[in-house]
Amino acid sequence: MSDRFRELAAAPRVAPSILSADFAKLGAQVEEVMAAGARVIHVDIMDGHFVPPITIGPLVAGAIADLVHDAGGAIDVHMMIEAPERQIEEFAKAGADSITFHAEATPHANRTLAAIRELGCCAGIAINPGTPVEAVSELRGLADLVLCMTVNPGWGGQSFIAGSPDKVERLKPLVGDGIIEVDGGIDTATAGGIAAAGASLFVAGSAVFGADDPAAAYQAIATAAGAS
Ligand code: DX5
Ligand code: ZN
Repeated sequence: MSDRFRELAAAPRVAPSILSADFAKLGAQVEEVMAAGARVIHVDIMDGHFVPPITIGPLVAGAIADLVHDAGGAIDVHMMIEAPERQIEEFAKAGADSITFHAEATPHANRTLAAIRELGCCAGIAINPGTPVEAVSELRGLADLVLCMTVNPGWGGQSFIAGSPDKVERLKPLVGDGIIEVDGGIDTATAGGIAAAGASLFVAGSAVFGADDPAAAYQAIATAAGAS
């Protein structure tokens, strides 16, 4: 599970977020972006506490896991939930290849990262726009990826926070050879600048699934990001 994600994330990639997909035809929407070249599918978990909305859980992640894996892809779980350590096992069982939780959501980041790796998944730590990059400085070597939110978490379709490329530049020396993932407001206009700052995994929800042609939109963002 973690090997698959690590291999895929070794090169710059756009990860479509199913948050903006049509859930009445979720499988077909995932197939469409994978046919266009997407290999990392981003799954947003919200609990109504850490962020106001409630979205989906392991049942939905598990429902698309075989389809994604059979096409050579990976499931990238982004947990925006309180006490994430209680849920990681369920997501690993559902087929997650990477599991990311928020630094603001638990006092047990070190233990939770280790537990995610023990479950065979890549381990990620996310930080909100208001959280300083130093929040991850003690976790170097324990996290396979750091997710830098480029909007406030909770909703798709928000505007990219302009200071995000500067923040990613400040984050870069703290993550060593870890992956920097960015999430929120990524489109053809914002992808290039954040890529130049050091991000290599670009989550895009509304810019992909909100477009008339999600496959073409995926490819345009990948080109803008210098991704495959
Ligand atoms: C927001 C989620 C994102 C969301 C991004 O809290 O974590 O993954 O899908 O949506 P866009 O790309 O529309 O900003
Ligand atoms: Zn996300």
